[in-house]
Amino acid sequence: MMRESLSLRFRLNLMIALTMLAILGLGTLFAIHNARRSVAEEINSTVNLALQLIEVSLADSPAASPPLGSWLSQLNRLDKTRHLRIQVTPFPESFSANEPPQAHAGSEGKPRRWSEHPPAGVREQAKRNTSEVPGWFAWAVKPRSIVAEKKVNTAGSDATRILIEANPEDEIAEAWHEALGFFTLIATLAVTIYAVVHITVGRAFRCVGVILDGLEDIERGDYGRRLPGFSLPEFARISQAFNHMASALEKARNDNRALTQQSLAIQEEERRYLAHELHDELGQSLSAIKVMTASLRKPDSRPQDNEAIDCIMAICDRLFGVVRGMMRRLRPLMLDELGLVVSLEDLIESWRSRNPGVNLHFDCEDDIEESAGAAKIHLFRIVQECLTNIVKHAEADDVRIKLALKEIAETDEHDRSWIQLTIRDNGRGFDPNGPRRGFGLLGIRERVASLGGLFRLDTSPGDGVTLEVCVPCGEASR
Ligand SMILES: Nc1ncnc2c1ncn2[C@@H]1O[C@H](COP(=O)(O)OP(=O)(O)O)[C@@H](O)[C@H]1O
Ligand SMILES: [Mg+2]
Repeated sequence: MMRESLSLRFRLNLMIALTMLAILGLGTLFAIHNARRSVAEEINSTVNLALQLIEVSLADSPAASPPLGSWLSQLNRLDKTRHLRIQVTPFPESFSANEPPQAHAGSEGKPRRWSEHPPAGVREQAKRNTSEVPGWFAWAVKPRSIVAEKKVNTAGSDATRILIEANPEDEIAEAWHEALGFFTLIATLAVTIYAVVHITVGRAFRCVGVILDGLEDIERGDYGRRLPGFSLPEFARISQAFNHMASALEKARNDNRALTQQSLAIQEEERRYLAHELHDELGQSLSAIKVMTASLRKPDSRPQDNEAIDCIMAICDRLFGVVRGMMRRLRPLMLDELGLVVSLEDLIESWRSRNPGVNLHFDCEDDIEESAGAAKIHLFRIVQECLTNIVKHAEADDVRIKLALKEIAETDEHDRSWIQLTIRDNGRGFDPNGPRRGFGLLGIRERVASLGGLFRLDTSPGDGVTLEVCVPCGEASR
């Protein structure tokens, strides 16, 4: 769940950061490994060099046993040159004169008095160097201590043992400086690579953000939305394809609206024609039949003739009723003559008489008639369809119909007038996301879209239905 909510941008940044940390970690291990090896080699070679120097001086010396004073001064010189600690002790009994000089490791734990000879300058330098080295680095690269022993016969005294131990502090400091350079280099590289990738990914994601905004606008039905050109070629192509798709959708929607408008106009025209035919032809003919039949009645007519005349006139009256009903459904002629509000009142009145158990409330603002214009037939049809639905599906006992004028800000300075029609019932409602079952609501939606209006359906099972439609009073309704 949490993984799914992480954005691609965050994931990429995390991956790059982790890769950089891994590179830094490996680089550090590599640097420590190298430093450890070079410190160990240096220490080894320093101890070996010291031993060789002592042996060479012994071999060069004319007397087999040089005085201890001159030895110590020579040893002090060695102590000065490299980081060596030299201990001179009386020779223990167990030590064999013939034993070769040896270097051995791991002599910690033995109490030992080391020469206090290292000169102050060297000591200061070593201290300064090692104080800059972090403890973890010194711990990681420090070799095991290497000690060499050498027996020397000195004039006028007992045999002497010389212990040489290399002090790795300077080597460690040197290795630290080298490693520091290496760390700085890889850290700089890692930070630079991270910054470059971060900036590039950031630029790409700015484009992704713009594209996502555009797609959301399209999803909301704003097909006029276009994307800017991007400098990255892939995004430039996406932007081109998006703009192409949006203009195709916009054209298809406009064509659709024009077609809907035209088919609705044809439908209304046909209905108007049929209503007129019914009124002019059938209505007139029925009136004529009724008048002529009435004229057949004579005072001396036989009773069965009078019965036939009454029967024909009753059929004519029934047919009149049917024709009037058909005409009202097809096209309320009074819509053209008396207007929307009167036609709606007439429709509502006849609806009330057919559904006496339902409380139907109709509320209409005064200026609706002038503002409705060409939209009035659509508003009439929408009310008609909704009332039919309420009878068919709602089982409601309270219905409210309201027509109002509304000002909606279109731009900063300019408001536009809309006619707002709201039809609300307290019936059983339905699930608007369920499968579509008829074409009535779809027809309302299409009518409203063809006028460039807004459609809103608010319902859920058990909560009744509220349908709200806004159509512009402007050009669409003139
Ligand atoms: N006022 C309403 N109350 C309850 N359900 C409704 C109402 N209006 C519409 N419906 C539901 O919506 C569906 C679609 O309605 P509509 O598009 O007019 O088609 P039809 O009326 O032909 O079924 C209906 O079948 C009904 O289930
Ligand atoms: Mg219906």
